[in-house]
Amino acid sequence: MDYRDKTVWITGASSGIGLELARQLAARGARLVLSARSEATLSELRDSLPGGAEQHWVEPLDLADPEALLPLGEAILQRVGPVDVLVNNGGVSQRSRFIDTDFSVYRRLMEVNYLGSVALTKVVLPGMISRGRGTIVAVSSVAGLVGSQLRSGYSGSKFAVVGFMDCLRAETAKQGIHCLTVCPGSINTAIAINALTADGSAQQSDDEGNLNGLSAEDCARQMVRAMDKGRDQVVIGRGLSGLAPTIKRLLPSLYNRLSARIEYR
Ligand SMILES: NC(=O)c1ccc[n+]([C@@H]2O[C@H](COP(=O)([O-])OP(=O)(O)OC[C@H]3O[C@@H](n4cnc5c(N)ncnc54)[C@H](OP(=O)(O)O)[C@@H]3O)[C@@H](O)[C@H]2O)c1
Repeated sequence: MDYRDKTVWITGASSGIGLELARQLAARGARLVLSARSEATLSELRDSLPGGAEQHWVEPLDLADPEALLPLGEAILQRVGPVDVLVNNGGVSQRSRFIDTDFSVYRRLMEVNYLGSVALTKVVLPGMISRGRGTIVAVSSVAGLVGSQLRSGYSGSKFAVVGFMDCLRAETAKQGIHCLTVCPGSINTAIAINALTADGSAQQSDDEGNLNGLSAEDCARQMVRAMDKGRDQVVIGRGLSGLAPTIKRLLPSLYNRLSARIEYR
């Protein structure tokens, strides 16, 4: 895809995969709408990108309040104009057992990881359909394809993203809309540090899987390639974190035995 003069709206652009994707797409000439909660970090990123404040927008938002995103998203569209690509990337993970976890944690994970993306998609899709083109990217997870310990709420929210995207792809196939679902395995970002524990507080420490994971640069590069190739879904990861969906599909009972034995972090 030629990104020059294309407007790409990225959520979760203040850190990790979203931040790196912003850098790579800005280098290819895209106009970016940078969203997350941390406005100061987004402004710093915008100022460091080619084109700076003349070419890119900072539009802070909180995915945990999906209803408020509908009017806020419309107001953002008024400011930035037509959006060619929406990347629903912002999200939060979990590290806690179901039996210990407050119900509020489940609600928060669904709001941030699922309903926030649905709301922003509602905002941009009508314009894309009327123009007969557009790309919706959703960052789910390998945890959106297979379950494992410590992630019952996270996995539920990411499975929901995969299902939502499959339906959206089917409904918009004849309207020129490309729907890409990205399922990363372990990627070395702040995801584990920010992951919610049983009471909803952040874990504030890293996990071995994450530390040994792919870099955010590699992940973003593979995402851009999948966007360029018009792929429907892509798994990005190495080792067990990348192979898990294939093992589950081909040998489901082996996968279930492994996931009962291994507390993957
Ligand atoms: N890293 C991995 O191993 C991995 C694996 C599979 C899937 N993923 C998915 O990849 C996506 C990006 O994660 P990452 O690895 O880059 O983690 P990260 O470094 O923790 O970045 C998460 C991003 O999401 C934003 N965010 C979190 N809560 C938000 C909220 N309530 N409202 C708005 N923005 C919010 C954060 O910005 P603020 O804090 O500034 O709001 C940040 O920009 C997530 O959807 C994650 O589930 C990651």
